[in-house]
Amino acid sequence: MTIQFQNQTLNPLIANLEIFKAYQQSPYLSLKHSAYFQVYEELLSQYRGKSITFVEVGVLNGGSLFMWRNFFGPQARIIGIDFNPLAKRWEQDGFEIYIGSQSSSDFWKNFFSAVGPVDVLLDDGGHTNEQQIVTTHEAIPFIKDGGLLLVEDVHTSYFKDFGNPSKYSFINYAKQFVDVVNSRFPGVQPAPQARFKKAVYSVHFYDSIVGLSVDRTKCFTSSWTSNEGQTFEAEDYRHHDSAARQLNQALIKTFHKVGLKVSMGKFLKLVEAPLVKNRLKRFFK
Ligand SMILES: C[S@@+](CC[C@H](N)C(=O)[O-])C[C@H]1O[C@@H](n2cnc3c(N)ncnc32)[C@H](O)[C@@H]1O
Repeated sequence: MTIQFQNQTLNPLIANLEIFKAYQQSPYLSLKHSAYFQVYEELLSQYRGKSITFVEVGVLNGGSLFMWRNFFGPQARIIGIDFNPLAKRWEQDGFEIYIGSQSSSDFWKNFFSAVGPVDVLLDDGGHTNEQQIVTTHEAIPFIKDGGLLLVEDVHTSYFKDFGNPSKYSFINYAKQFVDVVNSRFPGVQPAPQARFKKAVYSVHFYDSIVGLSVDRTKCFTSSWTSNEGQTFEAEDYRHHDSAARQLNQALIKTFHKVGLKVSMGKFLKLVEAPLVKNRLKRFFK
């Protein structure tokens, strides 16, 4: 079922969201994709009614600045960034406005030395690979623990007009954070962007939005624990997993009988690994 809102067809899920009400109540124009509201509600409700510092890159007609104030409440410090100096007009409504380009590392250095660390930064600026990547890279060190970095309109990573697909698209940069969070586990090779492994706690991928949760206190090295409960000495059946495994053992025995000394390790590498790889190919199509 769909509902109509100002001649737009909306999924009914959205109409009752607090963030969507805040959007409707903004007196100035803002254009947001309908899929974004559920994501905002899920990720940003935790900051409502709190004295947070919220930054949005991309001001345009000012509509989203008012949406954020409606949603977070009057105690939130709302900061807008835009390359267009006309955005300064929103200072008279109590917003802090900074003018500069999000693709400039120098801009970000000056920005954070002026405003200090922030709770949430949302990038709804120019949406190019470089703008999104430089913004993410420069902002992470200044996101507070418990904070969030959100990048919108990441579908541009799939658009020709934005120079994509490219090895250097934002979405490919963002995928590296999956390796970053996993690189905290002992023995896992260092990931690209490893410098962030002690800051980025989790990664969120949605339709057109990427979120990075920042919390240095949660980025510790994991270790084994036991609850010291009663044990039945149950055998871990991981090595009984497949019929192929039994076949492997039978094959090794046969090799041994004909005088070919093959260790299980070598056998797995030379015979089983290519077979498994072949079986798994269909899941990557
Ligand atoms: C999609 S609009 C923002 C819409 C607004 N957030 C809203 O929801 O109503 C994008 C804005 O990003 C700004 N912008 C584009 N390139 C930029 C850059 N390199 N640095 C800062 N802002 C930029 C544009 O001037 C424009 O106002």
